[in-house]
Amino acid sequence: MPSTQKKSNVIVYTKILYILLHSIQIMWFLVSFAGTEVMGKDTPEQHKVHAKEAVEQEFKGWVERMGARYDAKHAADAGDSLASTQTYTFANQLRTVTTKTIVVDQKGKGNYKTVQAAVNSIKQGNKQRVVIQINPGVYREKIKIPSTKPYITFYGPAGAAKTILVYGDTAAKAGSTSLSASTTVMSDGFIARGISFRNSAPAPVGGAVGRQAVALLIQGDKAAFYTCSFYGAQDTLYDKSGRHYFKNCYIQGSIDFIFGDGQSYYEKCHLNSIANPGSGSLTAQKRSSKGEDTGFSFVGCVVTGSGPIYLGRAWGPYSRVVFIRTYIEDLIIPAGWYDWGLSSRRKTVYYGQYKCSGPGANTKGRVNWSLELTDAQARPFKTISFIDGASWLSSL
Ligand SMILES: *[C@@H]1O[C@H](CO)[C@@H](O)[C@H](O)[C@H]1NC(C)=O
Repeated sequence: MPSTQKKSNVIVYTKILYILLHSIQIMWFLVSFAGTEVMGKDTPEQHKVHAKEAVEQEFKGWVERMGARYDAKHAADAGDSLASTQTYTFANQLRTVTTKTIVVDQKGKGNYKTVQAAVNSIKQGNKQRVVIQINPGVYREKIKIPSTKPYITFYGPAGAAKTILVYGDTAAKAGSTSLSASTTVMSDGFIARGISFRNSAPAPVGGAVGRQAVALLIQGDKAAFYTCSFYGAQDTLYDKSGRHYFKNCYIQGSIDFIFGDGQSYYEKCHLNSIANPGSGSLTAQKRSSKGEDTGFSFVGCVVTGSGPIYLGRAWGPYSRVVFIRTYIEDLIIPAGWYDWGLSSRRKTVYYGQYKCSGPGANTKGRVNWSLELTDAQARPFKTISFIDGASWLSSL
């Protein structure tokens, strides 16, 4: 055989091998789940095809309900500026609430040397805000705030770059996705400012089962995060349940890196993908019934990094995610959204974009079960009324 022939054979075999490996990788991704703990919990009931008309009716009703709420609270604010949220600053909160401050300092210049020791010192059933001031340092510890200790603030005066809470568990090592979290917040009324939440487990290949590694799990109601950062790969931020507000935060990951059944408003956040080619999704929202008010609304955010990734995939049958006035780099799979391999979900999810910009925002090629939102459709998601924020954010 002439050597050029041999060469071309080698090229063909290499290509076949490449295609084979790539197919395996894609299959991994398709069968992967955001949480091993939820495997098998999706009952046939949830997969059932729901009558399309009923669902659309429900969406319409919800949009009207939320719209009415918005109109009542923002009667004077007819435009769609974000100005109405600007009074909810951390400074206001520090001024307006009675606080007790506990200082955590690794060099012994505070009350405690670890964050968990400070949390442990707070009484169960705490009724007053307690600020845990965390001085600069890398705190390598697994932190948990139980549900019995509400109104805790983590405050890093040196900022997120210098105030780092990190651990390195994975779902396989810890027992479940939830248990992999470096920091777990089960209580209501949590506030964090200037804190970096990290999971240092090495980034896995796309969607590997058991490699979920959560940086922060938030399960309490009424939480607010200001200028915080979240670093991980697969499943970085477990926005599990409750109403949450994220402002000026940085969130990094690869697969489903903002996931859960939270009802959350992400304002001016930077979402950065570190996905390997062919293996990522920015969100995996888990709304499981039409009666739930949950969903993720991203407003005025920026999406950057490596792709291609989906904007979201439907962990729950009624998954709801919208991007509003968000700049999106060229890293999005044109289809935009993935139904989790369950076509019935196409009829019940609520996925949309509104006045987004950047090459990744181009809606040409999007699945026809996602929406380019109208003004009326976008309205319920555009302000903190999406999380009922006016009733709790300023008095947190
Ligand atoms: C949506 O797209 C699919 C496949 O691309 C097509 O089969 C279906 O008819 C479309 N549905 C509507 C309502 O346009």
